[in-house]
Amino acid sequence: MASDNLAPATLAPVESGATSTAESCSSELTWDPWAFDADTGPTPSYGPGASQWDEAPATTPVQAEIPADYRRADPAELQERIGAARSTLGTSVVVLGHHYQRDDVIRWADFTGDSFKLSRQAATRTGADAIVFCGVHFMAETADILTAPAQQVVLPNLAAGCSMADMATDADVSVCWDQLDRLLGGGPGAVIPVTYMNSAASLKAFCGRRGGIVCTSSNARAVLEWAFARGSRVLFFPDEHLGRNTGVKLGLPDDRMVVWDPALPLGGASEASLRQAALILWKGWCSVHTRFTVEQIERARREHPEVSVIVHPECRREVVEAADADGSTERIIETIGRAAPGSTWAVGTEINLVNRLARAHPDKRVFCLDPVICPCSTMYRIHPAYLAWVFERLVEGEVVNRIRVDEETRNDALVALERMLAVT
Ligand code: 13P
Ligand code: SF4
Repeated sequence: MASDNLAPATLAPVESGATSTAESCSSELTWDPWAFDADTGPTPSYGPGASQWDEAPATTPVQAEIPADYRRADPAELQERIGAARSTLGTSVVVLGHHYQRDDVIRWADFTGDSFKLSRQAATRTGADAIVFCGVHFMAETADILTAPAQQVVLPNLAAGCSMADMATDADVSVCWDQLDRLLGGGPGAVIPVTYMNSAASLKAFCGRRGGIVCTSSNARAVLEWAFARGSRVLFFPDEHLGRNTGVKLGLPDDRMVVWDPALPLGGASEASLRQAALILWKGWCSVHTRFTVEQIERARREHPEVSVIVHPECRREVVEAADADGSTERIIETIGRAAPGSTWAVGTEINLVNRLARAHPDKRVFCLDPVICPCSTMYRIHPAYLAWVFERLVEGEVVNRIRVDEETRNDALVALERMLAVT
């Protein structure tokens, strides 16, 4: 059996509005995503799911309401319409799908992957006129940067952003950079900026212009080694946890890793701690992965003494240290795929992927560490209705929801992305 009392067997509240056997973090997950697109209210929000309680900046993109016939169509009709449009479009369109997408969307992906693998896929799909990216905004921006200018990248729902990426704004990063410059002295190599893939294209460009680089969860260690070969200090944004977990793997002691909180003067750090720091960690987090706790791991081990625990490196340090292994979504998939039949796996990553792994490996017991169903709020915004809409518009020759990065940003961001692709 793939599920047990710790494991939600399906993602019913997200998929169909049916009742679930497991508790859900928000009853609004039974609503369709356009309930949030239609009415953003006075303050924008990420909608239901793990990021629901994060503060969304006023600049968070919103999705205009799609035509009523898409919103009213039942799931079977939507799948039929997607299939018909997809076959008309043929090889002129490539569909990329991140592993956190819901099943009735990911099934249409020509290529699936973590953010690193998908960025490589985007870069090599030179024959396609359009790339439909079933993922989130920063991934679609990256695809636009890595593809030819004539290729059009489409994000089916513009509200599919990333709360973590939004935690580092251009303005806040510039303020931080200037303050570090004044305190530590500028000049080449004084501080190397490293941005996680989960960031705006403008911040990738910021890194490209300043001798910096991009990383993903599958290459963070190699990228930090690259950076430390060129400078004695790294400013890492926006994920504090991926940064710290990677610093620990490189053997950095605690007093050489300092958190920079953009809401506080001098990041809330002392001048002395910043002078001593090797790794300055932006205070940003993923609300999906920070849900996982050491107590959940202890419970899994109590209830399943044979269990192996694998978590994503966006989890907190104590969770990564308590787990048996950590890795990007692609690495989690590979590890469980290679595991012995009959083995038991507790997984700390997004629920759509965990449930899919459980179904793909009926000979293994795979369950989510978190007993509460709580998907990524922004991945959830891509619904089959939006996919049907963008495909049918493409059939009519109209490109909706195109994601475009301006030329200057694109050129500078490409420098940082190409450094990353060369490292790994
Ligand atoms: P990866 O796809 O790189 O594992 O990252 C997970 C994630 O949070 C994507 O938003
Ligand atoms: Fe952002 Fe976390 Fe969702 Fe990934 S899983 S898109 S990091 S909020």
